[in-house]
Amino acid sequence: MKKKYQYITFLLFLFVIANAAQLLSSCNRAKGEQASADSLATRADTLVNIDTLKMPRGKYGAAVRYGRELMLHTAYYIGPNGVNGHYTGNKMNCTNCHRDAGTRPYAFNLVRSFRDYPQYRAREGRILSLAERINNCVMRPNLGRPLPLDGKEMISIMAYLKFLSDSSHIDNRTKGLKNMTVELPEVAASSDRGEKLYVHHCERCHAKNGEGKMLANNVSYEYPPVWGLLAYRPGSSMHRVVKLAQWLKSNMPYDKTTPGNAFLTDAESLDIAAFINDDKKHKRPVAKTTKEEDYPNYEEKAIDYDKGPFKDPFTEQQHKYGPYKPIIDYWEGKGITPAI
Ligand code: HEC
Ligand code: HEC
Repeated sequence: MKKKYQYITFLLFLFVIANAAQLLSSCNRAKGEQASADSLATRADTLVNIDTLKMPRGKYGAAVRYGRELMLHTAYYIGPNGVNGHYTGNKMNCTNCHRDAGTRPYAFNLVRSFRDYPQYRAREGRILSLAERINNCVMRPNLGRPLPLDGKEMISIMAYLKFLSDSSHIDNRTKGLKNMTVELPEVAASSDRGEKLYVHHCERCHAKNGEGKMLANNVSYEYPPVWGLLAYRPGSSMHRVVKLAQWLKSNMPYDKTTPGNAFLTDAESLDIAAFINDDKKHKRPVAKTTKEEDYPNYEEKAIDYDKGPFKDPFTEQQHKYGPYKPIIDYWEGKGITPAI
């Protein structure tokens, strides 16, 4: 047992060192980039991008490759019938949301995550390591049980995210690290309007009952489910209307968007998100533990988080569907910029 802890400590040590070196070199790079800002001005493509053909060799390279495989084929390796362990509880792959294994611009891009963690997270009310944040996604959208922190799978996903972070050339003009923003209208988002839009734009792939379409091999999806007992559960960030709308605007319909070019309008994205996340119309899985309390500090709740108690006078209904502006104004009046 003691040996195991020594081993874990050693691994953590390696990550800390790697991170520190990374920070130093990115500081130097930042200076260099400043100097060549003029030449950058002529560069048309400032979308975040990574050359995944340049993956390193050796043991570290093997971990990076397996980490990438896990993001692309999560269910095959660690799904309910996974060949390397049973961790995730549904058959969605990480890449269904973090598209192109976390490298696609405007699709919950993960290129910077390795350098952004550890980080204070309002939802947990404490500082989370990157590994803990990864396990949040294993447990929430993927309905699973946490990957052991010292196991091959977790270490490989971390190695892959480190590779992404090391090989990215990010400057202050890099676009696509966050999803596109949506303008928040004066009116509330409407699930009924969203339902009509869903039938028109989404049903052909995600199906009438939101169940998506399984691949013939029954391992994973051609079109992942958007609601139902095999989709992401409440408590996942996707279950927040504004958060989902930003992703939808940037990514769906699948065959009609390209990075940075939306198909849906802002209002349409919000209405469809309201419909997909409408728990009165659709079933979703429930959390396995009832102990979970998100946002222990109520004043830190994201404005579109739909469970009280709140430290403001607005209802759960308004937090979920808007109008959001009065909520933002309320908090800004107190000198606080609320999280969206
Ligand atoms: C149903 C969609 C969905 C799936 C599937 C999913 N995630 Fe996430 N993930 C999210 C959302 C939403 C966030 C929050 C992003 C935000 O707030 O900007 C997130 C955040 C993260 C973050 C933190 C990013 C950062 O820099 O803060 C990591 C790391 C992550 N996910 C890894 C994974 C891994 C690994 C898997 C597969 C085991 C996975 N996710 C599966 C939706 C998903
Ligand atoms: C042409 C087929 C197609 C259409 C049309 C389409 N999608 Fe998707 N959708 C996909 C695919 C494929 C993925 C997985 C993306 C990936 O793995 O890169 C996906 C992923 C998603 C996800 C994230 C994963 C999940 O299941 O939670 C959501 C949410 C989603 N689509 C919603 C929509 C909505 C809303 C519309 C209509 C505006 C829409 N899609 C239209 C094919 C489609």
